[in-house]
Amino acid sequence: MIQLEKMMIEGGRPLKGEVKISGSKNATLPILAATLLTDEPCVVDNVPQLRDTKTMLRLIESLGKKVVVEGNRVRISQHGPLKTVADYKMVSTMRGSFCVLGPLLAKMKKAKVSLPGGCVIGVRPVDLHLKGLKAMGTKIDVEGGYVIARAKQLKGDLIYLGGTFGSSVLATANLMMAAVLAQGTTVIECAACEPEVEDLANFLIKMGAQIQGQGSPRLVIKGVKRLHGAEFRISPDRIETGTYILMAVATGSTITIRDVNESQLLVLIDKLQEHGVRFSKKGDALTVQCQKRRFPVSVTTYPYPGFPTDLQAQFMAVMALTPGVSVIEDKVFPDRFMHIAELNRMGAQIRRETNAAVIQGVKQLYGAPVMASDLRASAALVIAGLAAQGKTEIQRIYHLERGYEHLDEKLKGLGAKVWREKG
Ligand code: UD1
Repeated sequence: MIQLEKMMIEGGRPLKGEVKISGSKNATLPILAATLLTDEPCVVDNVPQLRDTKTMLRLIESLGKKVVVEGNRVRISQHGPLKTVADYKMVSTMRGSFCVLGPLLAKMKKAKVSLPGGCVIGVRPVDLHLKGLKAMGTKIDVEGGYVIARAKQLKGDLIYLGGTFGSSVLATANLMMAAVLAQGTTVIECAACEPEVEDLANFLIKMGAQIQGQGSPRLVIKGVKRLHGAEFRISPDRIETGTYILMAVATGSTITIRDVNESQLLVLIDKLQEHGVRFSKKGDALTVQCQKRRFPVSVTTYPYPGFPTDLQAQFMAVMALTPGVSVIEDKVFPDRFMHIAELNRMGAQIRRETNAAVIQGVKQLYGAPVMASDLRASAALVIAGLAAQGKTEIQRIYHLERGYEHLDEKLKGLGAKVWREKG
């Protein structure tokens, strides 16, 4: 049961000090699903403690895995055969759960997985997942809100996986996990290149899979008979990193962020350098230093290595506070603009024009009661609240708990004045 709480922020204070980044949520979810591909024990380290990772752990438990959580380290083992039905209750709360389809089908030759449904960031179809599985010889029926998939033997094929909006992260994950145990070779063209997909491929390789081209749009997967257990450390979360960078920028602060892989955030760093931000790297620590003069910068989101849609809302909060005009367009989720109305409640001047947001930057935002609508939109409201004059009250913060580990503690560690109240 979701407890209604609101996050309170007394804004207008610069941040200072250091923050450490957690493991990537979007890498963790398919990697936990991939443990369904073997009967042997697996150990996954640097798993962030989040609502979404807990949901995925509950889901794989409901399918027959034994899960032992020790802080950020998770041990997964199995006694007896897997179940093959992924229930609506689990999959509807989190789209990432749909990626149990590929591994269940590969391991058990059948799977019944609830359709994830739509969400506030737009219609989210699964046609690419199903197209790829069908090409590999799967019979698919959609009945009563469930995908029912059966395959006597999955067979490798050449699959073009591009859709109307480019590549798909979870469709690539699902197909890769189906292909590792298929007969013959699968070639996925227009595969998603996101670092989280690469992390998944590296985990599968540690389990004995034969994959080439991870991190590129062409994956070549030679099926093997079985996979074994493996131990893996999840990479740091690039979206969490980007969010803390943008918090520093919005508040004109200098902070140091630890456990950063900045090569995954080159597009954000480049855009922020144009905006007037300085970066310096020492070991795994990135220092973000804001300058007095800042410039409006326009961005368009694209699949990796383009500007990430998962940082679009947070970037908008920063541009809302930058005098001048900027334009933000989302080519991945064209309707992902729920945060505009809430930012405007805080004094921003943003208008939507078809698939773009046109932002007339203002000098100051003002604290206000606002409503979180989804995970990254909520992060944008936190950024705006930290920079705003006065008190911001963010309702429905359970969205934030889906993707930001120990957010309150990390913010307090940076000197922010945040607390929770009953909602
Ligand atoms: C993943 C991420 C999410 C991120 C998104 C895009 C996880 C758990 N979630 O979501 O945080 O915002 O990538 O980087 O990793 N599409 C189709 N048909 C399909 C599948 C997708 O048309 O079968 C479309 C989508 O509607 C969207 C685009 O393709 O317009 C990209 O979506 P996709 O990469 O699949 O997003 P997810 O994998 O669901």
